Amino acid sequence: MGHIARSLLGMFAAFVLLASGISLAQAPQTFRGRNAPKPAAHAGTAGPWWKHAVIYEIYPRSFQDSNGDGIGDLNGITERLDYLKGLGVDAIWLSPIYPSPQIDFGYDISDYENVDPQYGTLVDFNRLLSEAKKRDIRIIMDMVMNHTSDKHPWFIESASSKTNPKRNWYVWDDGKAGGAPPDNPPNNWTSIFGHSAWQYSPMTGQYYYHRFYIQQPDLNWRNPAVESAMFGTVRFWLDRGVAGFRLDAIPTLFEDPKLTDAKLLPGTTAYGDQNQDTSLYENLPEVHGVMRRLRAVVDKYPGQRVLIGETYLPNIVELDKWYGGAQHNELHLPMDMQVGFINKLDANLFRQRISDAETKIEGNQPLFVFDNHDNIRSWNRYGDGTHDELIARLLAAILFTTRSTALMYYGQEIGMTTTPPTRKEDVKDPIGITGWPREKGRDGERTPMQWDDSQNAGFSTATSTWLPAAADYKTKNVKAQQDDPNSLFNWYKQLIATRKTDPTLRDGSMTMLDQTNSSVLSYLRNGVAGHPPILVVLNFTGTPQTVSFDPHKDHLPSSKAHTLLTSAPALEQQSDLTRIELPPYATWIARLQ
Ligand code: BGC
Repeated sequence: MGHIARSLLGMFAAFVLLASGISLAQAPQTFRGRNAPKPAAHAGTAGPWWKHAVIYEIYPRSFQDSNGDGIGDLNGITERLDYLKGLGVDAIWLSPIYPSPQIDFGYDISDYENVDPQYGTLVDFNRLLSEAKKRDIRIIMDMVMNHTSDKHPWFIESASSKTNPKRNWYVWDDGKAGGAPPDNPPNNWTSIFGHSAWQYSPMTGQYYYHRFYIQQPDLNWRNPAVESAMFGTVRFWLDRGVAGFRLDAIPTLFEDPKLTDAKLLPGTTAYGDQNQDTSLYENLPEVHGVMRRLRAVVDKYPGQRVLIGETYLPNIVELDKWYGGAQHNELHLPMDMQVGFINKLDANLFRQRISDAETKIEGNQPLFVFDNHDNIRSWNRYGDGTHDELIARLLAAILFTTRSTALMYYGQEIGMTTTPPTRKEDVKDPIGITGWPREKGRDGERTPMQWDDSQNAGFSTATSTWLPAAADYKTKNVKAQQDDPNSLFNWYKQLIATRKTDPTLRDGSMTMLDQTNSSVLSYLRNGVAGHPPILVVLNFTGTPQTVSFDPHKDHLPSSKAHTLLTSAPALEQQSDLTRIELPPYATWIARLQ
């Protein structure tokens, strides 16, 4: 989450879709990609669908408005399924669509088994599901298990009296002895959204714990009734046919039962709170028991349902635990935030972190991600202002040519930028109000999808939309880029098509090359089943770089290669591996001959 990437990363100091319909007509043979493989070859189908999937996150409020109220909705998404199919998307992760007061735009759920009227109805949802299925696109729900809305009936009951049967469904406590409410919270823990994590409730004279907004009380996962109720909601959606879940803020389920004060760390957050060690209320070992039990529930369903985790973790060792390590019995795909949120183009660090994902997760499947609804878009985090598009192409190459399952966020394929509000009074995300101006909130990465150059970027026919379209939509939009064979959109499309159809890119193991080069990241995807290896060479710098590979030393079957895709026209005809001159931020993807 942005706030996590924004502040906690700092704190952590921090299917197969062959029948996907990608036809020759759909995979443009452009100047820069004219050697891209013909998709006729049917690649192998090793492993479950999600291993090779391209998962596309949709923020429903911002994707497509079908009824002209200025807010995106489910029918809007259904209208755009052909677009997603054309891009090569295998699954959609829908940010929360459940009934909600929308304090945190759906992450504050008041009913886990319905659809918010803003987004449609369960009938609309079923239609989306069945239309997506016709296109071999799966739907993954966002499941928020750490907290509910304070308007959820469970919390309303819980807050009503100390003896209510649901009292113990949330985390309640008296304040610190010796003080008086509301100024004696049980401890010094802070909310990730600013200030004390405790809210005094005069009705019963106790405080409740909220890791996020005050309106998002944490559930008490030490109470088995909570697990049983939440697993019931999981079954509700699995029974409807969803492909799995993205588990929101999942490391935050448990807190230290003794409510010990957190250790303070130097510096302050954007909200003016002193930084603190989060180990008493994040990533507690108890959470792994819940993950194993949840995995057992999900695995009983046919069709390889998947569990994806929002797992901002300090290192690969911690990430491995979320797979269940060698037991492989927890999440299928905890997100690896170690790679996508490095936030600087450091070839050494990328090499190290990608290698970690190859070698330190016991044969589990990595899931890389560069963009989501909580973080400043990668375009802005990695761009240098001059070579932004080349850099975006390079990052996309990493996402689609490593062995990782690929997770992308709407608009990433056209290089949408983060466009924060310029005035505090325009901010919609509450953290942007609390944290202004240091933290402007997450509105900037949630602006409407830029479909075309018409009113509201083709997102809505309303006079005003919940967030305005970013100012660059007239020139940067899907329509313009679909028409341009050299666009970023077509780069994404070709990368995805290549990755789906080339057996080496699908299943080949990975070898890092030229490992002491701090300017250029090079790796080989080793050939499978008689298919040649593929070499990926990425110039991480704004200056020209020359690299050379020695077939002997580098154990390459040949010293000649054939360009598949490159962002540098000068490399279009490159075949000699012994001297490759890379322009700034160039991406070169070549098949060994
Ligand atoms: C979601 C955020 C949300 C938070 C609280 C996150 O990790 O991605 O958008 O604000 O959880 O639910």
